[in-house]
Amino acid sequence: MPGRIYEATGGRLFAALYDRLTKGSEDAGLADMRARVLAKAHGATLELGAGTGANLKHYPDAVTELVLTEPSEHMARRLRDKVAESGRPAQVVVAPAEHLPFEDARFDTVVGTLVLCTADDPAAALREAARVLRPGGQLLFLEHVRADEPGLARWQDRLEGAWGYMAAGCHPNRDTLAAIEAAGLTVDDLERGRFPKAPPLVRPLISGRATRA
Ligand SMILES: C[S@@+](CC[C@H](N)C(=O)[O-])C[C@H]1O[C@@H](n2cnc3c(N)ncnc32)[C@H](O)[C@@H]1O
Repeated sequence: MPGRIYEATGGRLFAALYDRLTKGSEDAGLADMRARVLAKAHGATLELGAGTGANLKHYPDAVTELVLTEPSEHMARRLRDKVAESGRPAQVVVAPAEHLPFEDARFDTVVGTLVLCTADDPAAALREAARVLRPGGQLLFLEHVRADEPGLARWQDRLEGAWGYMAAGCHPNRDTLAAIEAAGLTVDDLERGRFPKAPPLVRPLISGRATRA
């Protein structure tokens, strides 16, 4: 969860600027990537770290219930506004992905986009995602990740601290695919891509679906 200083300063600023900072990427293809991933969402659906609600407009009608979690109050305020504007019924719950206030096997779909780079403990977040998924339920993900090319991965390691300082605690060098598998989820659909109009450090992207056995 973002710390108190982040909440009091960078958290507010990051939330205020987020849509403007990401507009170029959204328009250049990120929004289409979101739509492709979220097309598979169905049933009772939980989103982790939903931010300002960039995914809201992409949820298909097969989603029968939508619960959006977000630990930052600054983001959650904007998220509530976005939900009200959208006309789509959705519940906003202030909670970090590492501690989800839901019973086991409550959801058919869990969604995480650009969030496992920032969560304090991605392994714990993924364990929680697996816990709240029903058997056969799916995690839909879209995440920027550690580069396969050793040269770029080295730069991601070197600049992790500086990047995190500027980008609200984001870690550019996480092997999120391995973390998903380590949480006991089976990746049955995987696409590798590039984060459009993003700095090279956060360009390697994965998207797809993992299923709880
Ligand atoms: C880069 S933004 C992505 C927002 C949104 N998911 C999207 O796709 O646009 C990262 C989000 O993760 C949230 N976050 C930070 N720590 C988190 C945690 N421990 N659990 C869940 N979300 C977290 C931040 O507040 C922020 O909203």
